[in-house]
Amino acid sequence: MTSEKEKFIGELRKSISDNSFVKLQFGKYRGDDKEFQKIIVNRINLKDGERLSFNFRYNTKDVVKNFEIEQGIKLAEDVTGNDFLSGTLFTTKNDYTIDHSKKRVPSFHIKKPSFNDPEIKEHNRQKTRKINQEAEYFHLLGITTEDGNVKTGMYDKFRQVDKFIETMDSIFKTSGISEKDTISITDMGSGKSYLTFAMYDHFNNVLNKNVTVKGIEQNHELTELSNRFSVKCGFTGLEFINGNIFDTEIEKTDITIALHACDTATDDAIKKALGADSEIIVLAPCCQKYVRKKMTVPEKLKGIFDYGIHEERLAVMLTDGLRAMTLEKYGYDTRVFEFVSTDHTARNTMIAAVKNSSKIIKSEDETEIIKSEFGIDDFYLDKILKEGISKKTADEKNQ
Ligand SMILES: C[S@@+](CC[C@H](N)C(=O)[O-])C[C@H]1O[C@@H](n2cnc3c(N)ncnc32)[C@H](O)[C@@H]1O
Repeated sequence: MTSEKEKFIGELRKSISDNSFVKLQFGKYRGDDKEFQKIIVNRINLKDGERLSFNFRYNTKDVVKNFEIEQGIKLAEDVTGNDFLSGTLFTTKNDYTIDHSKKRVPSFHIKKPSFNDPEIKEHNRQKTRKINQEAEYFHLLGITTEDGNVKTGMYDKFRQVDKFIETMDSIFKTSGISEKDTISITDMGSGKSYLTFAMYDHFNNVLNKNVTVKGIEQNHELTELSNRFSVKCGFTGLEFINGNIFDTEIEKTDITIALHACDTATDDAIKKALGADSEIIVLAPCCQKYVRKKMTVPEKLKGIFDYGIHEERLAVMLTDGLRAMTLEKYGYDTRVFEFVSTDHTARNTMIAAVKNSSKIIKSEDETEIIKSEFGIDDFYLDKILKEGISKKTADEKNQ
């Protein structure tokens, strides 16, 4: 080992032992694999202890492998000046760079640290992230910089995606389909598709499922862009369809998600999910306007609900409560909970429904009692479910 390389690897070792390590990057790849670009190394905490997490970035995919610290240092030593001409070690004390000329003559440089903010260091060393921060799609979707750091102003979104994947992972693993090799997922109202990409990545690369994910989105530009990014990432099973949830015909789907699909679009998603015989239905409703217009607060409760904010919250509770109860009626074990802290988003209520074939359905429809108490004689979900699950056009719907 040259003395330059010894210094570089020595600083790597030191930064790990004194906790100043932020990340390590290798570039200027000169090996035989035309698709290979660079390696980004983070330090992570797993259940079994600390690891160096190597993200091997290719043109169309990221492959992540975790190594015990000593193994990781050995691997860093192997690639320095061999397959990679350049390596940069970021620590909170200094940035250390080793560069090699074409003739493999090394030079070692020390610069002021790019990362001296302990928050960034802590962030990069996140203990239990479910998502891969270095994934190319996060950069394409504008959440991370080219170097894989979360952009200022995008932390809340990033945390929300991470929490969502953690929640989905747990719902899936305790469901009746966790052992299936092939999984189909539909994301209704996929929007900018952060969650859709993260779901595909998680099921494909972490859970090792043969997964197909479809995003349904009415915004043409968003659909086009998401499809372009999917191709760029080499996500062959991830596709976006431009259309209205109500109009789009959905085949059998194992998992349906609809997060922040506005107002009655969540109900359209429920109907489609039931029609597609979804094993798991996960919703994060928002803008519950329909029920607010239809409900009448019982005379004896009026004092409380004369306050606008209470009336709004009542409409949210009634809408989502009735949706959850309806799913129970259709044979799903249903939970309603906050899936991410209100510090990150106010739209954080999740309805998670998992099919239970042995569920005993109550003969009395309790939703009727509640609707009658609050004078709701027009509940949108009931209306569309009564029409059956056959396809209808948006024009017909609005008549
Ligand atoms: C607030 S965004 C949420 C995106 C994504 N699900 C998330 O939570 O990050 C809602 C998206 O749903 C789409 N959307 C709303 N109603 C829809 C409908 N009926 N059919 C298809 N897309 C719809 C909107 O165009 C928008 O992009």
